Amino acid sequence: MTQVQPLPELYFGGDYTPEHFPREVMAEDMRLMKQAGVNLVTINVFSWAQLQPNEDTWTFEWLDEIMDTLAANGIGADMGTATASTPAWLAKKYPEILPVDEKGLPFHHGSRQTFNPNSPKYRQLSALLVRKIAERYKDHPALRMWHVNNELSHQVNYDYSEITIRKFREWCKARFGACEKMNQTWGLHFWGNNIYEWDELMPPMRTAHQVNTSLLLDWKRFTNECYMEVAKAEIDILREITPEIPITTNFLYEFKTLDYFQWAELVDFISVSSFPDPKVASHPGEAALSHDIMRGLKDRPFVLLEQAPSQVNWRLANVNKKPGVMRLWSHQGLAHGSDGFLFFQWRASVHGSEKFHSAMVPHVGENSRVFREMVQFGQELPQCKEVIGSRVKADVAIVLDYNNWWTVEFTPGPTALLDYLENLKAYHYALFEENVTTDIIPVDRDFSRYKVVIAPLLYMIKPGFKEAVEKFVATGGTFVTTFFSGVVNEFDEVFSGGYPGPLSDLLGLKVEEFEAMKPYVRNSLIMNDGFPGASGEYESSLWCDILQLQGAKSLAVYGDDYFKGRPAVTVNTFGEGRAYYVATLPDPAFLRPFLKQVCAEQGVDPVCETPTGVEAVVREQDGRRYLFLLNHNYAAVDITLPDGNWFDLITEKMMMGRVSMGSVETLILKGDD
Ligand code: GAL
Repeated sequence: MTQVQPLPELYFGGDYTPEHFPREVMAEDMRLMKQAGVNLVTINVFSWAQLQPNEDTWTFEWLDEIMDTLAANGIGADMGTATASTPAWLAKKYPEILPVDEKGLPFHHGSRQTFNPNSPKYRQLSALLVRKIAERYKDHPALRMWHVNNELSHQVNYDYSEITIRKFREWCKARFGACEKMNQTWGLHFWGNNIYEWDELMPPMRTAHQVNTSLLLDWKRFTNECYMEVAKAEIDILREITPEIPITTNFLYEFKTLDYFQWAELVDFISVSSFPDPKVASHPGEAALSHDIMRGLKDRPFVLLEQAPSQVNWRLANVNKKPGVMRLWSHQGLAHGSDGFLFFQWRASVHGSEKFHSAMVPHVGENSRVFREMVQFGQELPQCKEVIGSRVKADVAIVLDYNNWWTVEFTPGPTALLDYLENLKAYHYALFEENVTTDIIPVDRDFSRYKVVIAPLLYMIKPGFKEAVEKFVATGGTFVTTFFSGVVNEFDEVFSGGYPGPLSDLLGLKVEEFEAMKPYVRNSLIMNDGFPGASGEYESSLWCDILQLQGAKSLAVYGDDYFKGRPAVTVNTFGEGRAYYVATLPDPAFLRPFLKQVCAEQGVDPVCETPTGVEAVVREQDGRRYLFLLNHNYAAVDITLPDGNWFDLITEKMMMGRVSMGSVETLILKGDD
């Protein structure tokens, strides 16, 4: 792996396609980029057709000119490998490169990302293209990093071509050895789905009723691996030719098709396309959670490789980022560990589907609010350079498991309303609102660095998790989990003996029954005495587990239904630590004080007290603390800074005590430990 951390500068720029404009526009672009302080642009992402107009012809001259112009202007290139959009001649000459949908219908050429990840022709010709690009630009002074493909699997989540089906059968054969082993492991005897010959096995395509869920899970794992192979094939070539140049590929916001924890191993640093909806009702924790996931993938800073300067073009109605919000959200990214800020796109396109997607330079040109805000942000950014590489301070971790995300949602019943990410958000947002920063970690990360580990809706328990979490709690940690946890193993087979299966001892309870609630139904939690911070009654929804306590202590009981008075929130002492179980989905009014208290018991305090809507996060490095205060309100607020003298990195003034923050304003303050 190339050594890339910390990044040399805080990157700032956007997706750049000067080849789509008259030649003279590039000189104008350079002037404007310098004015804004752009130091990195993403190029060549979708230009395979322009580089290779037919199988025997290569036309690199236009790209040479872009690279030379960038170098002459001191701007770096995040160089795309151009494999994300296949040329028309490729589909015409080798139709096998076209993917097939779950009904067996082929896709046709005509947009982008329309390739079968398992097509040998696609693999062969894309490898040739990547090699040519890498050889040509390996010593070019503008080359800063490689951008592999683009948002792999975004458009074609799953391919059902004959090529892929055959490969899936081989994959299963290698995994299980014999059909009977697979029948047993997946439970294919159910509905008589037994397989006796490998060529009887089908992926989860259009069929009359529900597909076996274990098969579905392994199909998702298989597809994840196929796309990883696509990325790795490119990465291997790039590493061979330019071992010093870092490699990334843009991951997607709130995207569940790929297991990004596995992908993190492939790349040198994580980057992400981040497009939260600027609608007024969206929660500021939404982007924070995505940033925490991206930082967690490699446990290191990451890069916001695509943000919208203002509106996107692919929502029902595309709301603008109001004045100041682009800067605020970029600073929020910086607070949560992003060391780069690029935007889709530099100059608004005049053709095609993305004409009305915002750009750093809109159709109206430089005399615009959006460009002026870009200039302000870009010019200020170097003042935050010392933040690069610093770590976000978090004593609380939330567990995210992609396999679990897939299965908990596709299993028919108990409720189709189960949304893994929404449940994770409930816990993340409650802590976010208390200014308690969280890391997002996979199930197999070392827990010992944390004081509190929260695993909402951990339906699937993988081998090793029980032992690791028991050790963590036994030695003093706090674990929190929820309803519908500890239900199945890694093949989606239910643990016999009742839930929470392997976590029963740790939690000191069994689930006797569960009930899914209709969307309009509510139950309530009635607090028992003696839990500091939370008292009285709170609403709950979605789900109720009916528990038998086997050592755990009840903290709250249900207020309604035939299980009224039965425990709804419990705690179990296990060794030196505690394990909490929340048997329903409580209202935030409960989760906030509950989690605050759980954290307080472990000595985890909020970063600082702030008015509602003001977020506080700390990054730290070499004894220095960077306190980020982000006012997500469209109104000014007054705030009391934590004790000490604080140096404002942007205004370069010292601050202390009570200060005012304007609407959607940020403060980035340096203090000594
Ligand atoms: C990204 C994609 C870009 C552009 C952008 C628009 O997902 O990588 O090419 O389409 O969305 O929001």
